[in-house]
Amino acid sequence: MTRSGKVSVIGAGFYGSTTAQRLAEYDIFDTVALVDIIEGKPQGIALDINQSRPVEGFETKLVGSNDYAVTEGSDIVVITAGLPRKPGMSRMDLLETNAQIVRDVTEKVVAASPEAVIIVVSNPLDEMTALASLASGFPKNRVMGQAGMLDTARFTNNVAEELGVPVGSVTTLTLGSHGDTMVPVPSACSVDGKPLADLLPAEKIEELVTRTRNGGAEVVALLKTGSAYYAPSAAAARMARAVREDSGAVMPVCAWVDGEYGIDGVYLGVEAEIGAGGVKKVVERDLTDSELAALKEAAEAVRAKQADVADM
Ligand code: LAC
Repeated sequence: MTRSGKVSVIGAGFYGSTTAQRLAEYDIFDTVALVDIIEGKPQGIALDINQSRPVEGFETKLVGSNDYAVTEGSDIVVITAGLPRKPGMSRMDLLETNAQIVRDVTEKVVAASPEAVIIVVSNPLDEMTALASLASGFPKNRVMGQAGMLDTARFTNNVAEELGVPVGSVTTLTLGSHGDTMVPVPSACSVDGKPLADLLPAEKIEELVTRTRNGGAEVVALLKTGSAYYAPSAAAARMARAVREDSGAVMPVCAWVDGEYGIDGVYLGVEAEIGAGGVKKVVERDLTDSELAALKEAAEAVRAKQADVADM
């Protein structure tokens, strides 16, 4: 594939800078623009990544700035702006502070790139995605959030470690919210095609599910300052790549659900086909009764919170 287009990353913290690095290293974009309010930070990171190009062998150029002018005409914008959690905090504790930041950032993004696909990663994820959608005025398919890819990756890693098998042999899935009502879907989990339920006792699966649900907090507790960024940025960058390549890849993402699974009008973690233009289609799968009930419960929990952010 030839190199073309522009992807912008808002926020040059660890999440934003590692996302920018991954996007640049794919070598499929002309430009990766990195914006942050801290003077010198996006410029310094851009220069540093550009200097890695001869070693890593990629040509995509980074441009760092405190001004959204560098994002003008972006095809894709990844919004990472906002505060991360501190140990002991839930993602929901960030709601009010990050709502103001995400609203402000989204307005600036939209002014510079009215045709972009927006990928939100700021927390609390489902609420911030709904807010960016509202603030953007974009069609719902052009705004989505990153969470399911990350939570699924954590679930897969947990299963692979437990069984001592390669991560590549494990398939898992999480739906719902990127929070307490995350819905791991054991019926969709397998190892080399064998159902997970045949390989591990129910209590062990439940343990891995709980560890997955707390996957972000586990990293926060270890790091003590800041939250995870290697796995989160890997997930966000893959979503941007699927948009750029119009791959139609089916990924668990936070997407607008309206009718699928009998759920009306809410941003929720579901599987969706991702391509040019963002979400092409929400993909429904057969869930067990209890999984479907948990997904519906998650939908109502995030619906209530998403209504709160509308006025923030
Ligand atoms: C996490 C944050 C990024 O789950 O939401 O690590």
